[in-house]
Amino acid sequence: MKQRLLFLGPPGAGKGTQASLLCKSQDLRHLSTGDLLRSEVSAGSELGKEAEAVMNRGELVSDSLVLAIVKTQLKALKNQGWLLDGFPRNVAQAKAIDPLLQELSQPIEAVVLLELDDSVLIERMLLRGRADDNKSVILNRLEVYREQTAPLIRHYENLNLLVSVKAQGSVETVASRVKEVLN
Ligand code: AP5
Repeated sequence: MKQRLLFLGPPGAGKGTQASLLCKSQDLRHLSTGDLLRSEVSAGSELGKEAEAVMNRGELVSDSLVLAIVKTQLKALKNQGWLLDGFPRNVAQAKAIDPLLQELSQPIEAVVLLELDDSVLIERMLLRGRADDNKSVILNRLEVYREQTAPLIRHYENLNLLVSVKAQGSVETVASRVKEVLN
């Protein structure tokens, strides 16, 4: 199975859930920029203070801040596959990480796009109830996804890396679809 992956998709599509399962079963390092940022917020670090208000509005944290986090994490990995969940979030982030991946001789092997209707995404997030899971913030996150993140679909299609997975159905059903496209 492929060892260096990106998970792409709208908020609430199940990126974190599926990434976690796959990383456990394949011994990949799960690098979720959302989780890494939330840890900084919980720790009350300067970085967390800078990110918190932006996250609570459902907007994107600055590229420079997120790139610094991702670069540190990737450089620290030794001979282990990885799965980037929630990064890149725009074309600028995708282009900015390329030189590091080339320097490390670790090209991306596949980009998994999880696809789901807005009505189901919204329902899942409202049920979860994270700090940024209220109706108006969710709608803003969906808008930010459409404007800034969705252009990555074309970007990775052009690089022949994109595989799409329907994300409706049970967690197990989606997990087996993900494995199927990565084999
Ligand atoms: P991030 O944490 O990445 O949030 P997101 O993309 O909005 O995605 P979610 O975590 O909401 O959803 P998910 O697709 O992971 O779904 P999940 O598995 O949790 O980012 C949060 C914020 O951080 C951003 O808004 C931004 O401010 C900042 N940020 C992060 N990365 C950034 C970057 N690169 N650049 C700039 N800013 C960045 O599932 C959702 C719910 O559904 C869960 O409760 C789950 O249990 C449930 N569920 C999952 N699968 C199923 C299923 N099959 N059936 C039923 N329920 C399911």
